[in-house]
Amino acid sequence: MAVIAVFNQKGGVGKTTTTHNVAAALAVMEKRPLVIDLDPQAHLTLSCGFRADSRHETISAFYREGTALSKLVQDVSNGMRLIPGHMELSKIDALFGKSVSISSRLREGLQESLAWDDSPILIDCCPMLGVLSLNAIFAADRVLIPVSADFLSMQGVDRLDAALNVLEGVLKRKIERKVVVTRFDSRRKFSHRVRELLRERYGDDLCETHISENVSLAEGPEQGKSVFDFAPNSQGAKDYMALTAELLEKGFIQ
Ligand SMILES: Nc1ncnc2c1ncn2[C@@H]1O[C@H](COP(=O)(O)OP(=O)(O)OP(=O)(O)O)[C@@H](O)[C@H]1O
Ligand SMILES: [Mg+2]
Repeated sequence: MAVIAVFNQKGGVGKTTTTHNVAAALAVMEKRPLVIDLDPQAHLTLSCGFRADSRHETISAFYREGTALSKLVQDVSNGMRLIPGHMELSKIDALFGKSVSISSRLREGLQESLAWDDSPILIDCCPMLGVLSLNAIFAADRVLIPVSADFLSMQGVDRLDAALNVLEGVLKRKIERKVVVTRFDSRRKFSHRVRELLRERYGDDLCETHISENVSLAEGPEQGKSVFDFAPNSQGAKDYMALTAELLEKGFIQ
C-alpha cells in the first residue's frame, strides 16, 4: 500500500484536478489506482461522475459509523476506484476535533481493511489544515503539492512550509514531498517566475513537468470524465501523463 496525499491549504490550486488525472493516468497504465475524496466539497467524486445517494456510501460512513474502507470502494471509469466524499465531512472537525487519536484514524482504517492492496492510493485534501487533511497526511507516505502559477499561490507557500515543518515534528519523520506547478501559462512572465522561485526553494523536490493552463482540464469534470476520457489528445492529457511518468520514474509513486 503506497499512499499519497495531494495537499495545499491554498484553495483552487489544482489539488482535485491533479488527484483525478494522475490517478487516471495510472489507470491507463493498468495500475488500478484508488482515489479517496477527503473534501466536503466532494469535487473529486463529482469529477469521477459518481453521485452518492446517501452519506452511507461515502467516507463519511467510515468516520461516523466505522464502516470498513474496503466496503466503500466504488469502481469508476477505466479501472479507477473511488472512495467518495460527501458534504457531511464538514462536520468531522466539530465531531472529532478534540479526540487525540483522530489524526491517525484514516491510517489505521487503511491498514485494517486495505493493507493487502498494493495499488497506489491518492487522497484529495480540502483547502484547510484541519482534522481531514491531518488524517490524509498522517496516512500518507508522501505529499504531492500542486502550486498554481500565480502571485497569490506563491504567497501561500510560506504557510504551507510552516505547516509541513510542524507536522514533521509531530510525525517524527520527514514528509517526503514533490511540488508541481499547475495552470502554467507560457505567455505570462509570472508563470516562469513562479517556476524559478519554486526551483530555488524546493530544488529537486520541484517536478520537472509542469501542468499548463488547458481548457480540457476544466471541462472534463462537468461530464464526470478525466482528461484521458474527455480529451485524450489535449495538452492537459499530455501534461498529466508526463507528470505521472516522472513521479513513477522517481519512485514517488510505487
Ligand atoms: N491546468 C488547468 N487548466 C485549466 N483549468 C484548471 C487547471 N487546473 C485546474 N483547473 C480548474 O481550476 C479550478 C480549481 O481546480 P481544482 O478544483 O483542481 O483546485 P483545488 O485545489 O482542488 O480546489 P479546492 O481547494 O477548492 O479543493 C477548477 O475549476 C478546475 O477545473
Ligand atoms: Mg479540490
